[in-house]
Amino acid sequence: MRSLRGIAALLLALLGLAAQAQEQASPRIEALLARMTVAEKVGQLVQAAGGRQRAPNSLIDDAERRRIREGRVGAYLNVAGVAETRELQRIAVEQSRLGIPLLFGADVIHGYRTVFPVPLALAASWDPDVAETVARVAAREASAVGLNWTFAPMIDVARDPRWGRVVEGAGEDPYLASRMAEAQVLGFQGASLAAPDSILATAKHFAAYGAAAGGRDYDAAELSERALNEIYLPPFHAAARAGAGSFMAAFNTVGGIPTHANRPLLTETLRGAWRWPGFVVSDWNGVAELRAHGVAGSDGEAAALALGAGVDMDMNSGLFAAELERLAARDPAVMAALDGAVRRVLMVKERLGLFDDPYRGDARRAARQTLSAEHRAAARAAAVRSIVLLKHEGNLLPVAPDTRRIAVVGALADDADSQLGSWRSAGRVEDVRPLLPALRAALPDAEISFVPGASPRSDDTSGIPAAVAAARAADLVLLVVGEDFDRTGEARSYADIALPGAQQALADAVLDTGKPVVVLLMNGRPLAIERLAARAPAILETWFLGVEAGPAIADVLTGRTNPAGRLPIAFPRASGALPATYAHLPTGRPAEADLARDTARYRDIGIDPVFAFGHGLAYTRFAYSPLEVAPNADGSVTASVVVRNVGARAGEEVVQLYARDPVASVSRPVMELRGFRRIALAPGEAKRVSFTLTPAQFAIWQPGGRWRIEPGEIELMVGSSSADIRALGRFAIAAVGESDVTAAAIATSVREALSPAP
Ligand code: NOJ
Repeated sequence: MRSLRGIAALLLALLGLAAQAQEQASPRIEALLARMTVAEKVGQLVQAAGGRQRAPNSLIDDAERRRIREGRVGAYLNVAGVAETRELQRIAVEQSRLGIPLLFGADVIHGYRTVFPVPLALAASWDPDVAETVARVAAREASAVGLNWTFAPMIDVARDPRWGRVVEGAGEDPYLASRMAEAQVLGFQGASLAAPDSILATAKHFAAYGAAAGGRDYDAAELSERALNEIYLPPFHAAARAGAGSFMAAFNTVGGIPTHANRPLLTETLRGAWRWPGFVVSDWNGVAELRAHGVAGSDGEAAALALGAGVDMDMNSGLFAAELERLAARDPAVMAALDGAVRRVLMVKERLGLFDDPYRGDARRAARQTLSAEHRAAARAAAVRSIVLLKHEGNLLPVAPDTRRIAVVGALADDADSQLGSWRSAGRVEDVRPLLPALRAALPDAEISFVPGASPRSDDTSGIPAAVAAARAADLVLLVVGEDFDRTGEARSYADIALPGAQQALADAVLDTGKPVVVLLMNGRPLAIERLAARAPAILETWFLGVEAGPAIADVLTGRTNPAGRLPIAFPRASGALPATYAHLPTGRPAEADLARDTARYRDIGIDPVFAFGHGLAYTRFAYSPLEVAPNADGSVTASVVVRNVGARAGEEVVQLYARDPVASVSRPVMELRGFRRIALAPGEAKRVSFTLTPAQFAIWQPGGRWRIEPGEIELMVGSSSADIRALGRFAIAAVGESDVTAAAIATSVREALSPAP
């Protein structure tokens, strides 16, 4: 075993040396490297916890300060505060032998103090500009308290909402996730990573973490190489191309290889094929977990495996600190890998401008910008754009201004804490503007009562009669149901994603009154609500919307804003109908309603989702012209459609372009998103939306890592959701060819254009 590992290590080292030869470090970095002791090198690869997420700085003591002075730590997580980061940075810069500045990282995910909608909700905006703004505001606030690094964006494609971390990403689709990924990277890192209000982004979790078996967090991802490359990797490729300075390895295995030991992924794909120059950080304790995964028999093996695979920095396991110095002394391969990792970390520190300006915290700027009126306004705009109108019957919305008595029912209506989601950074519950006061302000003439009725946290049904009485006395019921924030997030997987607690019983009792009922969903994942969806006439998906949740929901309820969010992931019929996606492969026996025939479906429930990927309604309607497809001289085609607002209110439509390759060398998905555009239209107004597509965007991944463009027809579908296609078209790819990975497939966005309709 050992000698095999030795030979493998030597080969890897040679490969590593070849890869490193391409890396261009500045004379400053090379000079530093030449002066560093092995202990100092290892120190640069150590990320220590300075506190816990909700208690930053709590672990900083004199022993920690001494470690910085000795150059034994290169980065912290969960250290924050202008004074605190300055103090530690000063020790590193002025009192350590080489004066190398520290990185201060934290989970700044959907805002710092100004908490925005959870990432899944932001993806529902189908608006990359929103995602970029959120990241920009978060970077401004976080950098003002001395942070220079965030562990975001999380861009794991997730097709099984039993997985609790679905809330942290952009949903089921690689194309949408890719656009959200690059937007967030640009937002966090700004125009220049060296600017005082930019922070380093981390694309995580690399890779296929969202493909955890059964939706169980941390579980194995068993998937084909094609699925890995075509579905799970594109958002990472997009983030790399957008310049993300760091990547985080994932906790799971992919095809049996833990990603912290996965050299094909971390080195061959990321640094080789993608030519990405940043550094890879482990996930929390991920290096040590290689032992639990059963691929390392000792701490030393775990550390050497991770470093050799391409993990550059050890978040908190302590194994790099404890093992690498000794291993490097006796194994030149480890020494070479160590040099490569240190070089990459230092290059990123240099890109961040830390050698010239190590102190990022700025109390005056923090006072001016933190939770400023401008940031709050951005939070409200983002929240409004994230809301999805899932169902709208009976003309119940917007709420008529003369509605006299409104009963708000459901404990979640009064749960401001949940609006902060599970990664709330420095968010505080008192910053949240909750629903009830916002509703009362927006509808001053209405009498608005509130009865909890039932809570997502308990099975207690005793409050239901009071809720029914309130509903009977009202002209309109707002039924607020879903999950509290703590049911989604890390390690929050559930086998059953129906409405928790007694909420379905509450919903049934309230609906039985026969009163008009508008359901407001609050949740961090799609829920299995087939029964509720069938019974309730109107449903608004409001997710967890952050500090401006209340006013944003009121804006949409009252019609101040017309909702236009779209689902970034479908709502399944049942928890047992997962995983699922609209972009599935065809089968030899496509699903049919006729159960007498043997087709690819369940016998007990329909195969279609309750609400499809891309679904969302508005208080107006849109008409689509036929699709026009025209070839361009450069081999691309432009597909365009005219969309008109044929309703009476101004509104927004998310025009979605899907494609299918109907005959290819391998089965291709029945449809895949390849472009989208959110447009605003006044009543009667029309706009032409154009998508320019290149053959490379239809390249098919091949074993060995090539992408092949195959000749033949591509079918195009344009519409309002994956289940509401309004116009069809097609074009032909003439020549077979190979595409460079950097141009291929869906990491690349289509070019879109908007013009007034003729
Ligand atoms: C573990 C999580 O998986 C990761 O997303 C996070 O960034 C780290 N902990 C640090 O908190």
